[in-house]
Amino acid sequence: MEQKGRENWGSRIGFIMAAAGSAVGLGNIWRFPYLTGENGGGAFIVIYLGCIIFIGLSIMIAEFAVGRRTSLAAVGAYKSYSSRWTFAGVLGVLSAFFIMGFYPVVGGWAMAYIAKSFTGLLAAPEAVPDVFGAFIGGTAQPLIWMVIYLAINVFIVARGVAGGIEKAGKILMPMLYILLIIVAVKGITLPGAGAGIEFLFKPDFSKVTGQTFLAALGQAFFSLSLGMGCMITYGSYLNKQEKLPSNALIVTLMDTSVALLAGIAMFPALFAFGMEPSQGAGLVFVVLPQLFAQMGGIGVIFSAMFFIALFIAALTSSVSLLEVVVAYLMDQRKMERKPAVYGTAVVMAVLCILSSLSMGALSGVKLFGVGFFDFFDILTDKIFLAIGGMLLAIFTGWFVKKEDLKDELTNSGAVPFGLFEIWYNLIKYVIPVLIGIVAIMGIMAIEQTSLMIFGLLIIVVLAIFSNKL
Ligand code: PHE
Repeated sequence: MEQKGRENWGSRIGFIMAAAGSAVGLGNIWRFPYLTGENGGGAFIVIYLGCIIFIGLSIMIAEFAVGRRTSLAAVGAYKSYSSRWTFAGVLGVLSAFFIMGFYPVVGGWAMAYIAKSFTGLLAAPEAVPDVFGAFIGGTAQPLIWMVIYLAINVFIVARGVAGGIEKAGKILMPMLYILLIIVAVKGITLPGAGAGIEFLFKPDFSKVTGQTFLAALGQAFFSLSLGMGCMITYGSYLNKQEKLPSNALIVTLMDTSVALLAGIAMFPALFAFGMEPSQGAGLVFVVLPQLFAQMGGIGVIFSAMFFIALFIAALTSSVSLLEVVVAYLMDQRKMERKPAVYGTAVVMAVLCILSSLSMGALSGVKLFGVGFFDFFDILTDKIFLAIGGMLLAIFTGWFVKKEDLKDELTNSGAVPFGLFEIWYNLIKYVIPVLIGIVAIMGIMAIEQTSLMIFGLLIIVVLAIFSNKL
């Protein structure tokens, strides 16, 4: 009896670490704060939390359930019901692929900032914003870091995900938490920090547009690793004793708390330094070094530890993204693991080179009105992930048998899930409609209409040729 309990507990931690490792990443610490800054602060956070609670959590439960029910990764899981649905899985693979067209660029920035912490970055705090601009706009430097970052991903995924990376995550994730708390406390106690707290927690709904909702929804999917099959795949490895709803809740809470902490670590300091909240992708690389500089000599150590933790958080996410593509090539295209990893990484590297150079040498090249970096970013988290989530909800609600879902979510009746009916109705009726409304509002408000149409067109084409995929 005792033996069994202990074994279950062990596997549970392993799974939660893997799923949380995928969820907690650049999305929380790099992307969430700057989106909050660009979208007016508190109101964005309220809408984001709404998306997490009413949509994200339910979708995560559904992904776990579908994955464990079928014991198959995303594409196979859909296909096992009907080849008409294969496209929804393939859309997920495509999302993973495109996210990896910019994610390693930012992962490389994080690595570079570990080194920069030691080489005088903090000695001249007033120069920090310019240093960042010059760095990402350069050619060789960011490319070299990106390639190193991607190579580490390749190294890990070529050998399978277990082992080192999971161990590193177990130590560095808690360290990330502790560091964020220290940084947040330091930031809150700076003179003039109150304006930042107000910005975060006093919602001003006059700044809200259709775009805000789409940004919040896309960010919820991105941050929780949803809408692209990653959690279906992780669910497929889960044993039958695990309680899916509570696991989903734990992962969601961990993810959301890291994002909020990152916001609290950044905005008070930002306002204290008299900077603009809407400065975009550079936020974490610009505000935090200035904060570390204020800490005196020890700041260098904090800075290095913070960027190491950011790098690890990013790595546990990008490894899961690469794995989604590799698993597809292995399962559905019958490739061997190593060639699948190497081939995929080479194509990703090309996309990343374009993304990185779009900050500098290629800044004049536009696709549907945006540079390469933004193209991959907007295409995935404003279009593919949300639509992917909607397709998953429709699939789960209308094509998977209700009894099967109940069976999965209660472990064949062994554990109660009192909210089953509410969850089921959310998935079947409410979420598809909600996402539909947000998508339409977003399409009408988005500046890049042609990009939006292009993204939707890809989905339609995939759907038409679904049974050939
Ligand atoms: N959730 C990760 C992050 O927040 C990114 C990610 C998205 C990972 C989708 C896997 C799948 O950084």
